[in-house]
Amino acid sequence: MHIFRTVAQLEEYYKTHQDITIGFVPTMGALHKGHISLVKKSVEENQLTVCSIFVNPTQFNSKEDLEKYPRNEKHDILLLKHAKCNVAFIPSAEEMYAEKEKLLKFDLKGLDATMEGKFRKGHFAGVITIVNKLFNIVKPNRAYFGEKDFQQLIIIKYMAQKLHKKVEVIGCPTFREEDNLAMSSRNARLTPDDRKHAPTIYKAMYYGRTHKHDWDFKHIKEEVAERINAYKKFKVDYFEIVEAKTLKPAKGVKKDVQLRACIAVQTSTVRLIDNIIF
Ligand code: PAJ
Repeated sequence: MHIFRTVAQLEEYYKTHQDITIGFVPTMGALHKGHISLVKKSVEENQLTVCSIFVNPTQFNSKEDLEKYPRNEKHDILLLKHAKCNVAFIPSAEEMYAEKEKLLKFDLKGLDATMEGKFRKGHFAGVITIVNKLFNIVKPNRAYFGEKDFQQLIIIKYMAQKLHKKVEVIGCPTFREEDNLAMSSRNARLTPDDRKHAPTIYKAMYYGRTHKHDWDFKHIKEEVAERINAYKKFKVDYFEIVEAKTLKPAKGVKKDVQLRACIAVQTSTVRLIDNIIF
């Protein structure tokens, strides 16, 4: 596997690798099986796979969250090699954010107004800024994103459709621990007690779904939040049932409209997000 730390190095490599299909997996490192499932899919479907590792400062809301974000480059590189990734692209913040450069101005038509967008102001502006830059540098045919960050996936799909028509954005299923907790780099920062209780997030959503035909959605939302909040150290930031394509709130089951239930929970140490098909 090649490791490139500058755009120039990647461009030089591309000169000798033309006319091949490029699959791209952008990440912020601290890789786990969820990330690696995306890399493996890309390796299967493309002649060349590039995985980027870059902890993007503009998408963090607090300095503390940015500073505490786990970093483990050596381990990441080992996992990528094992997954047969061809290129690890690990650029510097200096190169990705050259002086005076601003955030990408791009209207997300309200896709960023709900859920994560509401609770993490400016987060998606940071995400689309870096993904737009990375798409321009890596020039992929296909780009792989996890359904774990469902709102992000929908937003990237929308941005690509408008700004990167040649990039096919592919959503991949959420990889979970045995007890169904969605894998996340942030899970490592859960306290032992919170880790024990964390599976109630998925369980409560799942339980809510079993009542989708016989309870109104308002009641489902209250019930799900109540079950999670019963453990005093968890606080549900939001639990929304939305139309999967538009992210608009859904009032009930509708024929031919796919729904998604999305949740964010504040624990004693980290904020967790998850979602399921509803
Ligand atoms: P990061 O959180 O590192 O995630 C990188 C990719 O891995 C994202 O597409 C995310 O949805 C996916 N992923 C994370 N956990 C997963 C799981 N348990 N199962 C399946 N896929 C999972 O998302 C980001 O980084 C950043 O916002 C980024 C897109 C790289 C822009 O900075």
